[in-house]
This record gives sequence, C-alpha cells and structure tokens, in this order.
Amino acid sequence: MAKYRIGFFGAGKMAEGILSAVPDKASVIMAEKIEARAAELEKKYAVRTVPDLKEVAKCASMVFLAVKPQDVDAVAAEVKPLLKSSQTLVSIVAGKTIAKLRRAFGTKVKIVRVMPNLALRANAGMCAVCGDKGVSAVTVNKVARILGAAGESVVLRERDFDAVTALSGSGPAYFAYMEEAMTEAGVKLGLKREVARLLAGQTMYGTAKYLRESGADLGEFIAGVCTKGGTTAAGMAELSNPAFKRIVADTLAAAARRSKELASG
Ligand SMILES: NC(=O)c1ccc[n+]([C@@H]2O[C@H](COP(=O)([O-])OP(=O)(O)OC[C@H]3O[C@@H](n4cnc5c(N)ncnc54)[C@H](OP(=O)(O)O)[C@@H]3O)[C@@H](O)[C@H]2O)c1
Repeated sequence: MAKYRIGFFGAGKMAEGILSAVPDKASVIMAEKIEARAAELEKKYAVRTVPDLKEVAKCASMVFLAVKPQDVDAVAAEVKPLLKSSQTLVSIVAGKTIAKLRRAFGTKVKIVRVMPNLALRANAGMCAVCGDKGVSAVTVNKVARILGAAGESVVLRERDFDAVTALSGSGPAYFAYMEEAMTEAGVKLGLKREVARLLAGQTMYGTAKYLRESGADLGEFIAGVCTKGGTTAAGMAELSNPAFKRIVADTLAAAARRSKELASG
C-alpha cells in the first residue's frame, strides 16, 4: 500500500482550508463519506479521496481529525485498532481535550490538539497547537509549520485553549458582527446597502492587513488617526465608552466559559 504523509478523517470546510496550504497534494489522502464532496476535492486539488477511514488510518503518517465533535467517537471506534505509535493524530475538533482524544483513540498514536479558525479557508487562519506530553517538539513544530502555511500558528499550553477558543476560534463571528453593525450604520447615513458593505468590509480588511504588516502599537495608531477636532476623534469619543470594552470582555468570557463546559462534558 502506498504511503501518504498527510491524511484526513473528514474532508469538510476546515479540512479543505488545511489541504489548500499543503504544497504536495500527491502526498495527501482524505477519507470523506459524502461522495459528491470527495469528487469535488479530487477535481479541484487532484487529491486522493477514499470513502473508508481505515484506508487513511493504515497509510498516513500524520492524520488530521476534521469531523464534527458528535462524529468523533464513531471515527475512533473504526480506526483505534489500526493507529500506531509512528503516527500523529492532529485534532482540530472543538471541545475535545487531549485526555478525551487519548481515551477515544488509544495509547499508541501521538496526539496533537489544534484550535483553528474559519479564516483557514482564506489562507489566513489562526491556529493554536498543543502536543500531548511525550510528543516531541519536532512533531509539534511540524504540525505548526503545516498549519502556518494556511495563515499563522502558535504553540501554546492546553490550559490556554479556552481563551484561544474564545478569542481566535470564535473571533470571526465577532468581526463579522462589527462589519454588519458598520454596514447598518452606513445605511442609516444614506448609503446603499451594498456600498456600505463594501466600505465596511474593505476598511476592516485593509486596517487588519496594515496593523499586522506594520506591527503598529494600537494606542499610537488610534491616537495618530484621531486629529484633534477631526471626524475620527468625534467618532471615537462615542466608541471609547467603557461599556464597549466591557461588552467585548463579557463576550469572550462567555465563549471561554462555554468552551470549558464543552471540554468537561
Ligand atoms: N468552522 C470553524 O470555525 C471551526 C473552528 C474551530 C474548530 N472547528 C472544528 O473543525 C471540525 C470540522 O468542522 P467543519 O466545519 O470542517 O465540518 P464539516 O464541514 O461538517 O466537515 C466534516 C466532514 O467530515 C465528514 N465525515 C463525518 N464522519 C465521517 C466518517 N466517519 N468518515 C468520513 N467522513 C466523515 C462529514 O460528512 P457528514 O456531513 O455526512 O457527516 C463532513 O463532510 C469540527 O470538529 C469543528 O469543531 C471548526
């Protein structure tokens, strides 16, 4: 049987985000049960897909677990007897701790837990990576390097994962909500909805890009664009209400609490 460097259990949206950043698609094998989805990925990336998880478990050295949380136990039941100590299982499943994954997938396979975000699909993801005890830094860094090609990755301790889930994992929804709020505010000022959406979206995208690329200090950046007596200063006088940061803090705290509950459930 041919050897594959990278395998996938599940070939959904997040798996495709990771796949698109793997340079050598010929080294990838994906197990996907939806036939039409498998055919779509084969056509788009010339990647090998199979319907059977066991085929991937038998021949890939690093396997991404990319199914929904409720499907993990069924996947584990099928592949657990096949997984070996030479293989690494990289889980991107929300709420599945390393301890839970270890119980489900057995004692042999090396386990690395990742918290990605949806921006993987635009090759601009943010992934936090954590290896089980006993997994070498070489292996953890290899996973971080692969995911880093689909955006950014950072190696962290598992105890940070509730905070990571709250900030970067759930973060795309918060930014989309901000874009929606700015779009609606633009419409109230008389702009057509599609124009307001374009202005809001491109301003968020361009500002995020500039801040990432320049590494500018956020406080200095804001002060720099708030000319005394100017329009931005007038707007910021409203936005810098302490209630705004409190709402953001409460938002992340609620998401982190839910992440903890899911992990312990
Ligand atoms: N989306 C996010 O922002 C985000 C962020 C952080 C973490 N995650 C995690 O990423 C994981 C994947 O999410 P996703 O949005 O990519 O899910 P998805 O699009 O539903 O992809 C999962 C795919 O795996 C397939 N599958 C399930 N069981 C299978 C089996 N036994 N054999 C072969 N294929 C199987 C599913 O088919 P069926 O639909 O027929 O079941 C589906 O096509 C989730 O666990 C989620 O917690 C997602």
